[in-house]
Amino acid sequence: MPKPAANVALIGCGRISGHHARALAVVPGARLIAVCDLVEDKARAYGAEFSVPFHTDYREMLARHPEIDTVAVITPSGMHFEHGMEMLEAWGKSVIMEKPTFMRPEQLDAACDRASELGLHLFPVFQNRYNKAVARVKRAIDSGELGAVRIVSVRTRWCRPQRYYELAPWRGTFAMDGGCLTNQGIHHVDLLRYLGGEVERVNATMRTLGADIEVEDTVVATFTYAGGQVGSLEVTTAARPDDFEASISLVCANGLARIGGIAVNELLEFTPDPAACAECCEDFSRSVYGNGHAKMYRDIVAFLTDGTPYPVSRADCLSTIKLLHAFYRSDEAGGWVDVDSPAQSARLGRPDEALADLYRTPCPDSDR
Ligand SMILES: NC(=O)c1ccc[n+]([C@@H]2O[C@H](COP(=O)([O-])OP(=O)(O)OC[C@H]3O[C@@H](n4cnc5c(N)ncnc54)[C@H](O)[C@@H]3O)[C@@H](O)[C@H]2O)c1
Repeated sequence: MPKPAANVALIGCGRISGHHARALAVVPGARLIAVCDLVEDKARAYGAEFSVPFHTDYREMLARHPEIDTVAVITPSGMHFEHGMEMLEAWGKSVIMEKPTFMRPEQLDAACDRASELGLHLFPVFQNRYNKAVARVKRAIDSGELGAVRIVSVRTRWCRPQRYYELAPWRGTFAMDGGCLTNQGIHHVDLLRYLGGEVERVNATMRTLGADIEVEDTVVATFTYAGGQVGSLEVTTAARPDDFEASISLVCANGLARIGGIAVNELLEFTPDPAACAECCEDFSRSVYGNGHAKMYRDIVAFLTDGTPYPVSRADCLSTIKLLHAFYRSDEAGGWVDVDSPAQSARLGRPDEALADLYRTPCPDSDR
């Protein structure tokens, strides 16, 4: 049997990790080698379900399984930088980084610089780009079928009650999670520039309306693109009693594209080719996380096998993280801000050593 292009280990066996493990079971050229979680029961359950060894200490896992060449970092978002850098620098592993990739733009730069110095790779996860509806609209924009984009509108109305934030200490914190825009809305922040173009200026208002947390659970914003187009965004996890929609629509010179469903998974209107609507609807009723992880692993294998460019480049990812930050900076400034600015949000991704300590793998000589 040929050697797999990617021998993958998972760090973090939480809510999203099953999508990685299931994808790895079906993608030729990628193989799950081992899993790890600080919580032994979680690691054991994943190990049993996917018939691989489990560990609670990723250092022990990496030492025991030297064939691992790629690590999927699926830990709390505020730990991605620390865990990712250790994988690159101390272990020489390429990294698959769950969204939002990193909490701050300079972390992406530092990790990408280090990866390229070491001849390693960093693969950001934005799996909603693979949704059939999103892919069809992207093709229509790139080919000119839809014509120039004029207005982009994002609307995400999901329900995350207090008990969701109480699932783990990292949730609902600026250091480790960010609010509805960083956790749930990052996919739509990414899509509004993936489909609409680069955003130049943002004016956002954030509120916490439905839960007792320090981060926002509601954002409304307007924004302007470098090309003159305009947009609006409403993202909330304060909708009750259920998740209702995650939508993006684009008014373009040659027609309208409206993507909706629970997680941008249904092409609801597409005037250049109305028949495409039926073909580009996917059933996400089993999971809002969709079907994109397997397609992402296929792209990782293609990149590692024959150099086919991975679809999320460093520049692409950096623009999404800078845009994410601009929404927070605007709320902090109380008005319009430029996206392309070295300024940083004072809140998103701020250090919190006590929280970080909860998610650090103890060193053998520490007394924890
Ligand atoms: N792509 C998507 O749509 C999507 C969806 C959900 C979550 N995510 C991202 O995935 C990440 C995890 O989210 P989740 O909802 O699965 O969280 P979770 O809390 O359910 O799981 C995180 C797991 O990481 C483990 N962990 C933390 N530090 C560790 C360490 N040092 N070693 C081993 N395990 C460690 C925790 O014990 C926990 O089980 C977040 O960054 C989140 O933004 C992405």
